[in-house]
Order: sequence, then C-alpha cells, then structure tokens
Amino acid sequence: RPLDINVELPDEQAAQKIKIGMYFATWWALNVVFNIYNKKVLNAFPYPWLTSTLSLACGSLMMLISWATRIADAPKTDFEFWKTLFPVAVAHTIGHVAATVSMSKVAVSFTHIIKSGEPAFSVLVSKFLLGDTFPLPVYLSLLPIIGGCALSAVTELNFNMTGFMGAMISNLAFVFRNIFSKKGMSGKSVSGMNYYACLSMLSLLILTPFAIAVEGPQMWAAGWQNALAQIGPNFVWWVAAQSIFYHLYNQVSYMSLDQISPLTFSIGNTMKRISVIVSSIIIFHTPVQPVNALGAAVAILGTFLYSQAKQ
Ligand code: 3PG
Repeated sequence: RPLDINVELPDEQAAQKIKIGMYFATWWALNVVFNIYNKKVLNAFPYPWLTSTLSLACGSLMMLISWATRIADAPKTDFEFWKTLFPVAVAHTIGHVAATVSMSKVAVSFTHIIKSGEPAFSVLVSKFLLGDTFPLPVYLSLLPIIGGCALSAVTELNFNMTGFMGAMISNLAFVFRNIFSKKGMSGKSVSGMNYYACLSMLSLLILTPFAIAVEGPQMWAAGWQNALAQIGPNFVWWVAAQSIFYHLYNQVSYMSLDQISPLTFSIGNTMKRISVIVSSIIIFHTPVQPVNALGAAVAILGTFLYSQAKQ
C-alpha cells in the first residue's frame, strides 16, 4: 500500500490530497447517516443480530449486481485468497455484531466514545500477543485514551454492561481484523472495493447461522410487525437506509485504505467518530453531563497523541 510520503510533482500532490480529502468527507458523511438510521431501526426493532446480517446481505447483493452488470469488474480470486480472508471475516463479523449489539443497548455516542479507545487495544494486542515493542510516548498516550474512556463510562447516564462490553469486544475484534487484513491486502491484486465486497460475503455466511440461533425468525416476525405498527411503512426504508449506508461507508473506507497509510487511516477513523458523536447527540437529544463530555474529549485527544507518537 503506498505510504502518504510521495515524490510526486506539486500538482499531483495537490490532486492526491484533494482526492483523499474527498474520500474522507464521503466516508464520514456516509457513516453519520448509517449511525442515525441504524439507531432509529434498533430503537423500534431491537434485534441487532438481524440488522447486522441485513447490512452484510445488502452489501453483498449490491456488489453481486455491480459485478453482473459490469458496473465494477469482478475480482479474480483463488482458494488461497478466501483462506487468507477467512480470519479477517471472522473478526469483521464479531466486531460488527458486537458494535450493533452495543448500539442497541446504549446511546450511539457512548458506543463510539468507547470505540475511540481502539488504538489502546491495538498496542496491547501487538505487545502481549505479537511481542512488538513501542517507544515510551506511545505507551504514555494510552493513559488519556484509557482514562478518558473510563471517565466517560463511569459518568454515562444510561450505562449498560452489555452496551459497554459490546463496544469493547468490537474494539478487540477490529484490532485482529486490521492485523489479519494487513496480511491479506499487502501485495494483493484485488482492489479495496472488491476486497471489502468479498469480506462482506464471507462475513454474511459466517453470521447468518448465529443470527438465526441467537434471535431467529419467530422473534423477527413479531418484532417486525411491532415496528411497522409503531413507525408505519417508512420503517422498511429505515432498514434499507441503514443497510445500504453500512456497505457504502465501509466500501469508501476500504477504497481510501488503498491510497493511504494505516496510520492516516486510523486518524481519519477517529475524526469520523467525532462527527458521529456530535451529530448523534444532537439528533437523539442524548443527555450529556460535562464530566462525561470531558472524558470523551480526553479519550479522543489521546488517540491524536497516539498517532503523533506512532509517527
Ligand atoms: C459496525 O456495525 O460494524 C460498527 O458500527 C462499525 O464501527 P466502525 O466502522 O465505526 O468501527
């Protein structure tokens, strides 16, 4: 993957910067829309295992149609590709369903505050499981991340243990997803867009039996009727929106990962969370205490210090 240090002419550099800026702006905007519809759906229909499955199914279908109609070229893959993708898909599935379970139990902003602690998980996993070592400033930057998340968690007005643990499990799973996908994407012949399409399809296969076992058609049918009665026919559009926007934001994020270093990517991801936290607090009128907001700000500041220290 190209690093963002380049030796291009000034004009090319400017064009590349504009392109990455547009990727980032699109990624964040799509993510904000996803988070809003996802929460609206979960408030009326609290079945996160099904909604997670539907987002993957919708993305898989969109990509199959794009390949069939040649809007996008289908990737050339072999058994080795799918074998390498499997651990990535397991981690993606766990991270996705855990985040959705979390958002079904707590405010969207709270899930994303805890998810801003992902760099801390990344360092701890790399150190204790992979034996990597980091310079002291990297470890020090974990203090505000962990401290800020902890302060936000203890002062959260609507704290719920499942919601908290879901976000923590999602952090852990996504660290593994990133470690495995680094291996799978390096030297790859599959574009970021198609890589994410294949990831969605494999994750869908993995998640479907678990979603049926945990929730199942009976619960879904009753819940669906209830949601339709409560919201009206618009509910179907909410489900469609959360599924389509889930795929689109992830696709754009993988397309930008193609162009930038993992570090720039993680800074972009943290900035994305700020826009989600702020917009969801406004839209859902989430009650926030000053000390709770302070915790979030400290955690996010910590992730910026972390990215500086890693550089
Ligand atoms: C999901 O449902 O997969 C999560 O909302 C993903 O969270 P992230 O892409 O913001 O890490």
